[in-house]
Amino acid sequence: MSFDTKILKVNPETVVFKIGEDLPTITDPDTERNLQIAANELKNTSNVVGFPTETVYGLGGSALNDESVKSIYRAKNRPADNPLIVHVSSIDQLKRKLLPKDYIIPSIYSSLLEKMWPGPLTILLPVHEDSILSKLVTAGQDTFAVRLPSHPIARALIALSDTPIAAPSANSSTRPSPTLASHVYHDLNTKIPYILDGGSCNVGLESTVVDGLSHPPMLLRPGGISLEEIRRVGGPEWVNIILAKKVAGKNEAVRTPGMKYRHYSPSAPVILFLNCSDGEVAINNYIKKRDIADCKFALLRTRSFIPAKEISKTIIAERELGTTGGEISRNLFKMLREVDELGVDLIFVEGVDEIDEGLAIMNRLSKAAFETIIKSD
Ligand code: TXA
Ligand code: MG
Repeated sequence: MSFDTKILKVNPETVVFKIGEDLPTITDPDTERNLQIAANELKNTSNVVGFPTETVYGLGGSALNDESVKSIYRAKNRPADNPLIVHVSSIDQLKRKLLPKDYIIPSIYSSLLEKMWPGPLTILLPVHEDSILSKLVTAGQDTFAVRLPSHPIARALIALSDTPIAAPSANSSTRPSPTLASHVYHDLNTKIPYILDGGSCNVGLESTVVDGLSHPPMLLRPGGISLEEIRRVGGPEWVNIILAKKVAGKNEAVRTPGMKYRHYSPSAPVILFLNCSDGEVAINNYIKKRDIADCKFALLRTRSFIPAKEISKTIIAERELGTTGGEISRNLFKMLREVDELGVDLIFVEGVDEIDEGLAIMNRLSKAAFETIIKSD
């Protein structure tokens, strides 16, 4: 199906969830109307819509309807064995729609949910026998992943449709995740009817996915909440959290993105540099050894690399990703897309240490990278 994709403006600042209320108070009439259009689409059709969350833009469809979930996989061109995260607008909605009547959420999650929800944390829960969740959401696994986003537009969309929403990032499969409505439009124009445009995403990388049902608990995907924070606030059981392994076998279930497939990549290959001091020797050696002096390069710097003009004249575009983990997370996908659009042949990126936000940043970068250069010579 082909759509005349419409971008609907919404203002997150005019949407407020008052404590104890399931439905938001919306003070801007245009925002309310546009949210209602998108909510009706989700409720009444099997089409999917783009919408902002605090992490990245999501591509949402009813998590209860096979046809909607198929529409998600189709629009993104995503392999169907990669399970999707379900988004709810409140813990009450999670209980009402997706859990058995007297079910108690495992206590291992209590402290994390109290402190991190709403927010960029996704947890695994068991799929129960009579669950109304589409089996296509979980790719047949016996657990489902769920999160309660803090972005007012995301929460309002889910609350107004009163439907749990399955939503991967709203990019074409393999591309960097979108942090602006224009990124969604670039990738999915004609494939979806609506994109809610609520400005830029504050976190910039996807949610952290944890599995508290396995012993010890496992980090399936680093993201918006750091491993250090989870250990610090999760309670004693989370101190021994282990990292999921990076590669899945051919017949193995996908529990962490990029295990089997290319991910987060712009069109131009990304070359990732680690521990390469100011970058000058490493980049010039890289260019010389491969005899690619005629190519056009882009450079994304973080903490130590010197400005492009001091490194090589062939670097035609340059961006500062930032110096703090928060800034680098927020800018990474956006700047990869920006320099890619300039038509460069290669994108050089300066890596960071894998601490705090650095673990999620390096997780995305190492999956995006065509090649990694570990030190200067
Ligand atoms: O920040 C985010 O989480 C974004 C925004 C839109 O909310 N969403 C997102 O969703 O990244 P998605 O569906 O692309 O995340 C899928 C990942 C899988 O690759 C896997 O790591 C984990 O979530 N996952 C989902 N269901 C799972 C399951 N049943 N068991 C294990 N891991 C699961
Ligand atoms: Mg994604």
